[in-house]
Amino acid sequence: MLTGAGMSVESGLPTFRGANAFEPPREGSGRPLRFEELASPQGFARDPALVWSWYNARIAAYAGARPNAGHEALAQMEALYEHFLLATQNVDSLHRRAGSRNVVELHGDLREARCSKCGHRTVIAQNGLPVEEIEHRCGGRMRPNVVWFGEMLPAQAWERAQAAAASADVVLVVGTSAQVYPAASLVTLSGRAYVIEINPDESAVAGAVDAALRESAAHALPRIVRSLAVGRPNARIRWH
Ligand code: OAD
Repeated sequence: MLTGAGMSVESGLPTFRGANAFEPPREGSGRPLRFEELASPQGFARDPALVWSWYNARIAAYAGARPNAGHEALAQMEALYEHFLLATQNVDSLHRRAGSRNVVELHGDLREARCSKCGHRTVIAQNGLPVEEIEHRCGGRMRPNVVWFGEMLPAQAWERAQAAAASADVVLVVGTSAQVYPAASLVTLSGRAYVIEINPDESAVAGAVDAALRESAAHALPRIVRSLAVGRPNARIRWH
């Protein structure tokens, strides 16, 4: 299972690309920035206050959002299978908040900050980290605990995701444009799996999947879980 920002559109959150994408961040002069210019170690070194003010708005939006029927369906799907792993690129924590447990967050979790020097981690309040509080006592600077452009994915998360993709029978690819690597490479790593894309539009890997449902996540996933649960009355699954 690989999910991306489209998963949370029906929770009211914007994507990074395409029709539902967020407004580009702007620097002091009003010039729109490419996301890669902001979400990178270089962007943070150039203007940490700008980076934090952009992320603080995301943190508040995420805190105000609720998991949708798609997130809930994936939490239920997990209960049906002994081997199940949900690899997400999302940092909005909605999968965990919907009850998914076998989750790897490839790009981190925006509910946390970490010191860029000593690695100390803290939980961020729901309205974000005030810019006056970003200096850490070790002399380093607190940053969002997410993966930025040019950075490695968390090693353990990436290893688990790769191993799951390589051994999977079925891989669902939901709500991702599959343009950002290495996460997108999970689709091609899953050589022997039957790959199903769930996305109203074609992603960059649309040509490499076995089946595509051109539907939204919150529509398609509950239906799939209902079908999978047929004939499995003992499955640990709850219905609403
Ligand atoms: P994108 O914004 O690139 O792609 C979102 C995808 O969701 C698009 O393919 C849409 O067609 C699809 N979509 C929109 N609404 C949907 C719905 N209701 N149901 C299902 N799909 C829908 O988001 P990601 O692929 O997640 O990284 O982006 C990958 C990474 O790019 C992000 O994790 C982020 C960004 O740079 C970092 O911040 C490190």
